Amino acid sequence: MTNLAADLEKDHHDIDRDLEAFIDRPEEGGPLTSLRKAMDDLRRHIYLEEVFLFPPLRSAGFIGPVLVMLKEHGQMWDVLARVEGLLGDGRYPDAAETVKTELFPLLQAHNPKEEQILYPQLDGVLGAAAAAELREFLAQGVVPDGWTCERAGRSQGSTGGMS
Ligand SMILES: [Fe+2]
Ligand SMILES: [Fe+2]
Repeated sequence: MTNLAADLEKDHHDIDRDLEAFIDRPEEGGPLTSLRKAMDDLRRHIYLEEVFLFPPLRSAGFIGPVLVMLKEHGQMWDVLARVEGLLGDGRYPDAAETVKTELFPLLQAHNPKEEQILYPQLDGVLGAAAAAELREFLAQGVVPDGWTCERAGRSQGSTGGMS
């Protein structure tokens, strides 16, 4: 496993841990800080995958797997928006329930696919310059203001009985 794949997997685990801390104790203070950190880190993780990882993987022929990952990112992004709304209303137990029953299961299904199917390809598809760029973003990059993932805002429609 490359350092890059290991770093990305660590990101998955850190986000899981911070989400679990809030699920266990949905209240102000430490757990709420954990949730806010996990949400920011997840958006950043989605950004770096969609901007730095998926284009070269797609060019290398991993079109289907990348499409599935983009779709799942969109679903997560929409759940994050709903959790933000609940937090804004001070509905911490409802936010925890949404994280537990919607966001967490999405991550549990999504992350192993990336770790088993896509991350092992990184060595082969990322050139040295792209790998360095990704490493630099992992170290100190921030998501540009207003950026949304490619498939954000589409999951509401899919729950409306169309499919
Ligand atoms: Fe992802
Ligand atoms: Fe990931």
